[in-house]
Amino acid sequence: MLTLFVLWLTVGGFVKVLVVGGGGREHAIVKALKKNERIKQIYAAPGNGGIGCDAQCIPIKAADIPGMIEFVTNNSVDYVVVAPDDPLALGMVDALEVKGIPCFGPNKAAARIEGSKVFSKNLMKKYGIPTAEYEVFDSADMAKKYVKTNQKYPLVIKADGLALGKGVFIVLDQSQALETIDTIMVDKKFGDSGSSIVIEEFLSGPEVSVLAFTDGNTIIPMVSSMDHKRAFDGNTGPNTGGMGTIAPNPYYTKKIAAICEKTIFLPTINAMLTEGCPFKGCLYFGLMLTAAGPVVIEYNCRFGDPETQVILPLLETDLFEVMEAVTHNRLSSIDIRWASGSAACVILASGGYPDSYKSGFAINGLDANGSLNEITVFHSGTTFKDGVFLTTGGRVLGVTAAASTLDNALKKAYKAAGSIHFEGMFYRKDIGNMSCVS
Ligand code: AMP
Ligand code: GLY
Repeated sequence: MLTLFVLWLTVGGFVKVLVVGGGGREHAIVKALKKNERIKQIYAAPGNGGIGCDAQCIPIKAADIPGMIEFVTNNSVDYVVVAPDDPLALGMVDALEVKGIPCFGPNKAAARIEGSKVFSKNLMKKYGIPTAEYEVFDSADMAKKYVKTNQKYPLVIKADGLALGKGVFIVLDQSQALETIDTIMVDKKFGDSGSSIVIEEFLSGPEVSVLAFTDGNTIIPMVSSMDHKRAFDGNTGPNTGGMGTIAPNPYYTKKIAAICEKTIFLPTINAMLTEGCPFKGCLYFGLMLTAAGPVVIEYNCRFGDPETQVILPLLETDLFEVMEAVTHNRLSSIDIRWASGSAACVILASGGYPDSYKSGFAINGLDANGSLNEITVFHSGTTFKDGVFLTTGGRVLGVTAAASTLDNALKKAYKAAGSIHFEGMFYRKDIGNMSCVS
């Protein structure tokens, strides 16, 4: 027995894992990692009130690379999951790898697939991956000249760099287009992220999020999902980070999945390999199912939020085993299994989100672990103070349920959402309702 234990310690042993980030996505990752028996300690930096019930939160900002390296070194952390886009785009994985710390997440060069829309659009064009027709501009004057001659509206204008999901504008006429160019390139609303812009054709069709594990050579798509990006019911109001999700996405048939695999997923990882920046981690494909076939609307270099909240509860294979397989380039040897059935996540948000909102309100209706019976409550923007969970963000909680049918998952999630309350709270009542899909 003792020999077996020593052997186990030698091949794998107990490990300490750090999850970088502090939102609902990170809470879902932490909860999934908790199921692994080899992990004896999970840290989250910075984490949040709810994550604190499942991991030890460390007050280091997610993008603080020196701070993270110091913590990891001083605390003998064995593995780091870098979840948010900012630290990935800044090169946190590169910095950890220099120190010999295994991580989950792409390096800086590969993270450009999300960090620069110009990079990703040019990649798709070069390798024939279906996407909207586009032009790139690094001068406001040239961009304005272009929209003055363009007669086709709506038109989509995107800031090149990261903009917290707010850098995409669908403009309905020339005056809106000119105003948007000024906002991004002249007023610099998104700082340097707006030094270049992409102007692309407007496409329509149902949207599907497909996240995939990839070690750079092998790609294994996860169960599909559907986000609801607009703030209000009926897909109205401003774009948000996501107001709710369902998985699997009912539009994503086996036939469409096979097309995507052949025309989008494999060509993308092969393109990254050929460009000398193999992508390792979770690659997020934001797809639109147009009349002409599936196209890429965007790539993200990370797990989606709130997609992760509905995907990981359906993952039957151990998440840490998969992550290690990605890190060590042996994804092809892993069999990834998913539960049948569906999951639904309803985001409870602060009044005013995605614009300005107030924080610090007490959240009523949660148990001592920040959760509820038969339901998983992923915390996005909370803190825990004097025995009470308080709101700290725009998106506050992701109330999530899994069931054998989508209907039942939605019923369970909505029933639970109705028993939680904080001042100013609002949520969409039509998550998973197909009539709200374009
Ligand atoms: P992105 O951040 O690039 O995913 O864009 C945010 C949202 O804007 C997407 O989920 C789509 O709903 C919409 N969008 C982006 N690009 C286009 C496009 N070319 N045509 C129509 N809608 C788009
Ligand atoms: N839910 C969209 C994203 O994570 O970018």
